[in-house]
Amino acid sequence: MIEKWIPQYDKLDASDQQHLDESFKTLDVDHIEKVYEETYVNPTTVDMGKIEEIQYISADDIEDFQKEKLRESAKASIFKGEFAVLLMAGGQGTRLQHPGPKGTFSFDGVSLFELQARQLQKYMSEDSAPVHWYIMTSDINHVETLSFFEENKYFDLPKDNIHFFKQEHFPPVKKDKTLLLTPEKEIMLTPNGNGGIFASLYNSGMLEDMKRRGVKHVFMNNVDNAVVKVLDTLLAGLHLDNDNEVTSKSIAPKPGESVGRLSLVDGVKAVVEYTELPEGADRRFLNGNIGIHIFSTDFLDTVGKAEMPYHLALKKLDFLDIDLNVVKEEVLKFEKFYFDAFKYAEKHNTLQVDRKSEFSPLKNKEGKDSVETAYQDLKSEGLI
Ligand code: UD1
Repeated sequence: MIEKWIPQYDKLDASDQQHLDESFKTLDVDHIEKVYEETYVNPTTVDMGKIEEIQYISADDIEDFQKEKLRESAKASIFKGEFAVLLMAGGQGTRLQHPGPKGTFSFDGVSLFELQARQLQKYMSEDSAPVHWYIMTSDINHVETLSFFEENKYFDLPKDNIHFFKQEHFPPVKKDKTLLLTPEKEIMLTPNGNGGIFASLYNSGMLEDMKRRGVKHVFMNNVDNAVVKVLDTLLAGLHLDNDNEVTSKSIAPKPGESVGRLSLVDGVKAVVEYTELPEGADRRFLNGNIGIHIFSTDFLDTVGKAEMPYHLALKKLDFLDIDLNVVKEEVLKFEKFYFDAFKYAEKHNTLQVDRKSEFSPLKNKEGKDSVETAYQDLKSEGLI
């Protein structure tokens, strides 16, 4: 059985084989087979006719006095300790080619982690309960992330208010469905996308920890938006005012921009990911996901137990070929997307904002959404 999944097995010595036997036993091969069939052999595509633009509220349409009221109610709730911040930082960041966790990438000596930590410092005053920060890492960057926070003295935040937890992992496979061996002769497992975040929050006890502290709402963001407004009080105010389960922030995408679209697919709330957008949809659906959302803890409770589907990603990874030489080839990686849980929310609003001062993603080394564009935006916002 194991030889079918690991064709190099017979070429390995007894101790390596024994080690692989142990790891292989922990895998659910029926599940791997099912995911391979569903995402690669018989993939479902999104039919353009079934996508509808989701309604959104434009920040420009909210009167100033109303904005002020929303911000004040958010502040009052934050000061009472009812909000926590959740950061997704488990990704591999392959496009950026930065050696280390993406959050450690620095502009003039200021890292992405620091840019976000600074925004939590203002809640360390006498007027406010401290905001707790929950950070999701993965096996590939957990240790380095922790050391970085330690070296940087937790950016002057109390160490006990920062909580790290690891996400789920899943094996990538070759196109012929065999498992990959790492150069260290281990079965390769990689972070399985950010959609495992709800199960990981639930299973790690972090959700329980939030609730014990009286947290009722959780602001979540991507690690790589250089100008993200962590715990934006306008979005938080809207979330409270509408008594929402989910409140999302969006932008109008530029042509060809790599952002998912907040939509209704067949009447169901969803994000159609940019990698899965049908041809011609780019300019038709203009409510772009920027990875900023607020969830109620009750919603997190529900989706912590929900099954999330896998999506296919083609990635070039290093692994051992049949002759045990290291090669780098395109393989199948399976990822869950957190927004597949949006269908469980009955109360969900989107606030569309102007991208300036809200969204500058660091995705690539050069070109669009790159080190240079993020640097310019940070400078023009006076953040560095
Ligand atoms: C993501 C969104 C996309 C959105 C864009 C905005 C997803 C699936 N897609 O795309 O709709 O328009 O951001 O910038 O979220 N992460 C993990 N674990 C993983 C993979 C990713 O924690 O296994 C984290 C990353 O560290 C990052 C965030 O999730 O903070 C987004 O992941 P990334 O791979 O950068 O997604 P994009 O393809 O840019």
